Amino acid sequence: MIKIAPSVLAADFTKLGDEINSVDTSDYLHFDVMDGIFVPNISFGLPVLESIRKITNLILDVHLMIDTPSRLIPRFAEAGADIITFHVEAEPPDNIQNVINNIHKLGKKAGLSISPDTSANAVLPFIESLDLILVMTVEPGYGGQKFISEMLPKISMLRGIIDSLGINCELEVDGGIGIKTAKQCVDAGADVLVAGVDIFGAVDRAVQIEKLRNV
Ligand code: DX5
Ligand code: ZN
Repeated sequence: MIKIAPSVLAADFTKLGDEINSVDTSDYLHFDVMDGIFVPNISFGLPVLESIRKITNLILDVHLMIDTPSRLIPRFAEAGADIITFHVEAEPPDNIQNVINNIHKLGKKAGLSISPDTSANAVLPFIESLDLILVMTVEPGYGGQKFISEMLPKISMLRGIIDSLGINCELEVDGGIGIKTAKQCVDAGADVLVAGVDIFGAVDRAVQIEKLRNV
């Protein structure tokens, strides 16, 4: 069963509560945190996450695009994140396993994300302790970008490894996902689809979520 994670980044922030309620048939709510350092853009952070936590029962899928995420992970756990995903490029390599363990100690699921220029090999040393791997299919930092189809072999390779190990690790894709690219990603082995513009740009979000689920 494919899971759908609408990205809050594409919502109308003047009516955020209504926007979130409009996607309540999805599986996760994807929350992009950008710090202007790890990525050249700033989005939203802890106070917004706390507010959202109060109005939805959706699983909050927090995607940290921030430098040295270990500094702030306990704060995001406290603010209501359910899944905390950080970038393999954003933390010193010798601390990544510690960060994953700390997320688990906080009672949360741990995800590791890879940017387009990073090889899938970067996540392999940690794969057995991960609940989720997030393959970026655009450069992190902005919504509404074009899907990078060169990422499809990376998705297939990770699917093969996850299956051969028989582990319970979800494979999520993020960036430029619409009906056509969703199908390509699902065929390559993705099982969680993040979509911003494709869902929040639709008149009937529930219909769009269902279409993405069944590509
Ligand atoms: C990009 C973010 C994405 C973004 C996706 O850095 O991580 O989650 O919101 O937006 P769309 O689906 O519009 O490409
Ligand atoms: Zn994201």
